[in-house]
Amino acid sequence: MELLKGKETADFIKKEISAKVAEIVANGERPPHLVAIIVGEDGASKTYVANKERNCAQVGFKSTVLSYPEDTTEEFLLGVIDQLNNDDEVDGFIVQLPLPKHIDEEKIINAISPKKDVDGFHPKNVGLMLLGEETFISATPYGIMLLLEHYNIETTGKHCVVLGRSNIVGRPVANLLSQKSKYGDCTVTICHSRTKDIEKYTRDADIIIAAIGIPEFLKGDMVKDGAVIVDVGITRVPADNEKGYRIVGDVEFDSVAPKSSYITPVPGGVGPMTIISLMKNTLKAYELRKKSK
Ligand code: GUN
Repeated sequence: MELLKGKETADFIKKEISAKVAEIVANGERPPHLVAIIVGEDGASKTYVANKERNCAQVGFKSTVLSYPEDTTEEFLLGVIDQLNNDDEVDGFIVQLPLPKHIDEEKIINAISPKKDVDGFHPKNVGLMLLGEETFISATPYGIMLLLEHYNIETTGKHCVVLGRSNIVGRPVANLLSQKSKYGDCTVTICHSRTKDIEKYTRDADIIIAAIGIPEFLKGDMVKDGAVIVDVGITRVPADNEKGYRIVGDVEFDSVAPKSSYITPVPGGVGPMTIISLMKNTLKAYELRKKSK
């Protein structure tokens, strides 16, 4: 069993991005600029955005956080998005989700210019991803693909079982793994809450992507020997420690790890890869903007 170390992989990619930014700046140009919009006081969102800011600083990007109160109107937010869409000093921006209930998330996402949508949430970018065309792939599916690529995991002709059919993880990652590409070419099965006899599929899987949101759902007796296991779950469960909780994945690590060939730890697996995907997308947005000038 070998760990798929997301933290180490993310640090490796971070160095590659930093080197490119250093080159850009040495050429007398401004560094890539990512803007994050946050509305309201959601604690988890604040932590995510602070993490994004820290990563931007580490790779040499400029980052700006626009924080607005909970009672911000949809109209105001649409105005901010319009300004950012037209700001030549901004390469990419994200609107941190969830938004307060009185704001229509779909309307907001649709208003973001696809060229600056480094979250890859705009329907145009989702469509391009489905077609296998060049686009911004959203953070978690992109992070998973980068991790498989970094460890040179053989995917061609393998049976990959994706647990979960969410728009942000299950369905996009299933699509990417089925595409005709070096780190695709899998035969993919998507299992979800209505799937009957889920073990029938997981026991046949060469690769399992667990993104079902149920802590320790996947157990050792549900996987075959030598399977590659990617655990996307991050559930906080109460624990008798300083924080009062611990982070648990969708995989029961102790029973699954001994049977696996590769497995992601939680934390330190897929998590760190998601943020580096956003950094890669921001650099790409910068390069595309420069090319189009
Ligand atoms: N909330 C949780 N994850 C994300 C993300 O990747 N992007 C945005 N915009 N909001 C989030």
